[in-house]
Amino acid sequence: MSKNLRGLSERKGLTESLFREITKAGSDVSGNREKLLSELSEKYLTGKSSLLSASSFYDFLKCDHLGKKVFMCNGTACLTSGSETKLRKVLAGKFGENKIGTVSCLGHCHSGNSFMIDNNTCSFDDLRNPQTINKHDYQSKENFFIGTNTEKPVFIPEINDLIDYYGILNDFRDDISRALKEIEQSALRGRGGAGFPLHIKLRTSANTQSDRKYVICNADEGDPGAYSDKWLLEKRPHLILLGMVITGLIIGADTGIIYIRGEYPDSVKAVNKAIKEFEQQQLILGDQSGMKFSFTFHVFEGAGAYICGEETSLINSLEGLRPEVRSRPPFPATYGLFGKPTILCNVETYANIPYILKEGGRSYSSLGTERSRGTKLVSLDSAFRKPGIYEVEMGTPLREVLYDMGGGTKYPVKAFQIGGPLGGIVPVEVADRLNLDFESFADSGFLLGHAGIVSIPEDFPMMKFLLHLFEFVSKESCGKCFPCRIGSQRGFELLKGAADNNIKIDRNLFDDLLETMQLGSLCALGGGISLPVMNALNWFRHELEEHFQFTT
Ligand SMILES: Cc1cc2nc3c(=O)[nH]c(=O)nc-3n(C[C@H](O)[C@H](O)[C@H](O)COP(=O)(O)O)c2cc1C
Ligand code: SF4
Repeated sequence: MSKNLRGLSERKGLTESLFREITKAGSDVSGNREKLLSELSEKYLTGKSSLLSASSFYDFLKCDHLGKKVFMCNGTACLTSGSETKLRKVLAGKFGENKIGTVSCLGHCHSGNSFMIDNNTCSFDDLRNPQTINKHDYQSKENFFIGTNTEKPVFIPEINDLIDYYGILNDFRDDISRALKEIEQSALRGRGGAGFPLHIKLRTSANTQSDRKYVICNADEGDPGAYSDKWLLEKRPHLILLGMVITGLIIGADTGIIYIRGEYPDSVKAVNKAIKEFEQQQLILGDQSGMKFSFTFHVFEGAGAYICGEETSLINSLEGLRPEVRSRPPFPATYGLFGKPTILCNVETYANIPYILKEGGRSYSSLGTERSRGTKLVSLDSAFRKPGIYEVEMGTPLREVLYDMGGGTKYPVKAFQIGGPLGGIVPVEVADRLNLDFESFADSGFLLGHAGIVSIPEDFPMMKFLLHLFEFVSKESCGKCFPCRIGSQRGFELLKGAADNNIKIDRNLFDDLLETMQLGSLCALGGGISLPVMNALNWFRHELEEHFQFTT
């Protein structure tokens, strides 16, 4: 069934994208949504139910969302910063309570009090000046720190000369396999969470015969607390574009797609601008060297769905299908967008490639540890004295990042959630023993993930934090598999009953639920929630014990 829909969507391709048409029709507020979807159904020869099923999935296309004026961030860092009540009061005073909606993490975790208005992201500080509101200029000043602890930073240096920068393509055009060898020597592992070696994916796609192939950049950075992809998209977009072009040359693809979450409108603007600059460089390079090479970029904006960060869900979304997770194999490297071989990587993964080719794979792999090479961007939230984006050499003691680079926290904190909603809850005293690399985290029962760090204040109830996590998973579950679809809702209900009505949770039942979700879920959204929850039950037992009882 989805194969047929995929084929129908492919007929119109990326320029007449079904996904774009669906989001356009779904955003209609003039009462014509049904009619528009019917027209689409005829144009694309697809059933109307399929289109309805896709459009009803996204937060931004829901009627409730469309009627709002201002959207408060409901991400974890804004929650733990304790700003919600104050911000809501101010916004309600200005716009009216019924005009306030919520969106998931806006990537302003450095402010801890962000909201979106007229497609601009702001923080509470912007509101202090009434002039700003009157001028309809809500653009937030980005008051956060940028730093590094390595003498060979990969991302921090600015790019001044684009001709020289893109000129590296000339050095590799005669023998692109050299680029693949450098990437292999660098031992770069994907930065989107799973840490899979990039060169293996590239070789698989390169060796798969097909009339078309695609390169997709996963810029759906949905992990609350992480805003390093946002920083790269807005401040270093050419690192990403060049990384994607080189990937295309290696696997034999001439089309790149950047799927940017709808909560990042500034990133969309910055990337579109950079693509125009790239197109000029492409022409200049072609004129200078006669190099027959052309690479086309397409930017797609998400419509509010965390699960679209999962690679197969993202591909379904791009195809205009309901973005449910697909079971694998086949993996995207052989069967991706429109069923064609596709390399889909995280923003930061692509952004590493230019350094690797310019400085050499060995130079890159000399950074970091035996199994976690290179550097990692880390995002620190507003609890830190120096919140911001830090490029950290892998293997660095976490203590150094939290206290030397981040300046420690402004108020007492009991734990950090690191690596997004499915990342571990690391008590402060344990954080002192970790190093910032994949293995150090995994060996201690945590997850480095995308390395966004959210502080949990001393006085923030752990029960409230767990409720937030379960609510997040139950809301964002794509519904494809029942352990996650039903389990996340049951977990939320149990915690809510305990928090609000003092109904004790049967601990054995709760453990069974976590185990079922962990073992039975199709992807890491349902499968991964047990990690932070078990961390909390383990390390914060004294706080949580009163809500649980043991039956055996
Ligand atoms: C629930 C869920 C959400 C995810 N969200 C993201 C995301 O926002 N960005 C991302 O790059 N990868 C995300 N991933 C991982 C992707 O599925 C995929 O592994 C990754 O984009 C591959 O790129 P990499 O090899 O560069 O890491 C998510 C995975 C899951 C299970
Ligand atoms: S675990 Fe949740 S998000 Fe993942 S496939 Fe199952 S229902 Fe969908």
